[in-house]
Amino acid sequence: MSDLILGIETSCDETAAAVVEGSEKIRSNIVASQVKLHAPYGGIVPELASRRHLEMIVPVIQLAVTEAGKDFADLAGLAVTVGPGLVGSLLVGVSSAKALAYTLHKPLIGVNHIEGHLYAGLLDHPHLECPYVALVASGGHTHLYHVEAPGTCRLLGCTRDDAAGEAFDKVAKVLGLPYPGGPHIEQVARAGDPRAVSFPRPIIGHGSLDFSFSGLKTAVIQYLEGRGYRTPRRRGATRMDASDRESTVLNPQLVADIAASFQQAVVDVLTRNAIRAAKRVGTLRILLTGGVACNESLRQHLAQRANRDEIEVFWPRRELCTDNAAMIAAAGYARLRRGEVASLDLNAAADLPLC
Ligand code: KG4
Ligand code: ZN
Repeated sequence: MSDLILGIETSCDETAAAVVEGSEKIRSNIVASQVKLHAPYGGIVPELASRRHLEMIVPVIQLAVTEAGKDFADLAGLAVTVGPGLVGSLLVGVSSAKALAYTLHKPLIGVNHIEGHLYAGLLDHPHLECPYVALVASGGHTHLYHVEAPGTCRLLGCTRDDAAGEAFDKVAKVLGLPYPGGPHIEQVARAGDPRAVSFPRPIIGHGSLDFSFSGLKTAVIQYLEGRGYRTPRRRGATRMDASDRESTVLNPQLVADIAASFQQAVVDVLTRNAIRAAKRVGTLRILLTGGVACNESLRQHLAQRANRDEIEVFWPRRELCTDNAAMIAAAGYARLRRGEVASLDLNAAADLPLC
């Protein structure tokens, strides 16, 4: 039997398929992004996302197999994201994988999306040994795990409200920056002063490793309104009031300073909890993964801070930090080797905990 796994990922707004050989050799990695489709709405519209997945899933899968220089018959199995995510989006991937597994007589493997983000780290750092702490920071998740052994982990902390990426996206919207906000905030923050505004760094109870990011968006709005700017939440107002005469055009230096200060607040909180988590479980390894792990400021700050405690920080290359199917295939390969094969009644689960 070959070691080739076809991975399929449709949990959110990327239609992705990839062929990976074993746990690290990426033969193809196709991602059809829906960013342009959702950009006018400033966020993902679930109904539009599932329709676009339906249009794209067959060509994306075909391209992944062709680019890998393989045939469907060469595959050892099909791995698909079953959750967490948007249920309508997940169902497109799950139904496609089931249909393929049935017609090809190949094993079907259900993969948790967050487990996929962990395997993205292993694709680039195959020698990263358990146990380690994983910080998964993306548009939908901000979770800290103790990965004790392959396939075995424990949740140490997670966000109580918005995910870190969601905070980037919401603050970008307030600042008039395009969706998705993370890369745009990072870009404009380069011209800003991270100490310009002192945004809150919430602490959730004594000893907790949980996060809270929703207050940051509110703090940014309050800061702008305190300076006489109207922010998007007030644009729907029907009556003219004093604020209607105030400016809505933000000064570029102010945007840069707010972006840099906001980014620093998120980076500080993520770094603080990740280091605390590593110390608490007594590991010298942290894996940083998920879309927010693309952020250079976070990478450098966390690595420098961790270095003081002789903790090493790992992160995958950028295209493996954001949603992709290579990470799903790699996780699927590990499951297949453990004999964890799904039956054809496999179903999507919008809220699927990793552990
Ligand atoms: O992992 P991902 O592609 O999808 C989810 O599973 O959610 O993450 C997307 C999120 C978005 O919220 C995006 O704004 C954020 O990752 N992101 C970033 C950066 N690049 C992407 N956040 C901060 N800095 C970045 N450079
Ligand atoms: Zn993700």
